[in-house]
Amino acid sequence: MTNRKKPRVYLTRKLPDAVETRMRELFDAELNVDDIPRTRDELAAAMKRVDVLVPTIADRIDEALIAEAGPQLKLIAGFSNGTDHIDVDAAARKGITVTNTPNVLTEDTADMTMALILAVNRRLAEGARVLTDKPGDWEGWSPTWMLGRRIWGKRIGIVGMGRIGTAVARRAKAFGLAIHYHNRNRVTATTEEELEATYWDSLDQMLARVDIVSVNCPYTPATFHLLSARRLALMQPTAILVNTARGDIIDEAAMIQLIRDGKIAGAGLDVYHNEPSVNPKLVKLAREGKVVLLPHMGSATIEGRIDMGDKVIINIRAFYDGHRPPNRVLPGRN
Ligand code: DGY
Repeated sequence: MTNRKKPRVYLTRKLPDAVETRMRELFDAELNVDDIPRTRDELAAAMKRVDVLVPTIADRIDEALIAEAGPQLKLIAGFSNGTDHIDVDAAARKGITVTNTPNVLTEDTADMTMALILAVNRRLAEGARVLTDKPGDWEGWSPTWMLGRRIWGKRIGIVGMGRIGTAVARRAKAFGLAIHYHNRNRVTATTEEELEATYWDSLDQMLARVDIVSVNCPYTPATFHLLSARRLALMQPTAILVNTARGDIIDEAAMIQLIRDGKIAGAGLDVYHNEPSVNPKLVKLAREGKVVLLPHMGSATIEGRIDMGDKVIINIRAFYDGHRPPNRVLPGRN
């Protein structure tokens, strides 16, 4: 890439300093130092003049926007694992390659899944609030106060046993949970053996039998409301739901109603329908201690975000060196 003109690369958001420094060395990089989300018009204007767009999951790169892109835009190098915010098929039709950043956020997201499982069952957010919001309310240790639910010995049902689901399973096993999973394809016999995992071809049957449901599948048209009102109603009233994947995999309104009616015990959520707005009914449930809500922080570690940036750089360099970028997203997948 050294003798050629550097590609013009447009970053829609601020990235870690180390990533931006490297980007400036290698590319003609246009940064977003103020980190103010770009408007649709700004994105459209950028897509008419730059060679590479680096969007995040907060940017909706839909068919209409792609249709307006200039002929010089050849690569959308996503700073994300998920690609549901990019119309990959429309990009392919226009001859634009799309890449993402898989693998590097697997462990962080799995950690956050475990954190939510513990937070809901052991009432971490409620307990922490007692000491920060109303410290005078703590009268000291009591045998019957702040009782949560034990997780050791319970059953977790993982919906989507890809990289993140498997990483959750490894952690869950170490916490003494029995592993159950539902996936389009069964994992290898070696992995099942290692995890002592039980495969459920029927999601319905698994949902009815587990104590914790963890959503770890990608969001595609096929997984929209995979956890529909009917399916959620199959869960046990003592069971909880944890979602670190995408909000719309769950019918959020139905989940809220079932929690309010005591038909599901609670939920730990990092993702929502229509982010960044959060349904006020969920906020109310959080105040009542029935759900724990996080603002999409699953991959939010400095190491993870630098690794994601490095992947974006590798994909851009490979593309401009005339190679197939290692993390190309194929059309027809979402
Ligand atoms: C992704 O990259 O898809 C994650 O959801 C970001 O946390």
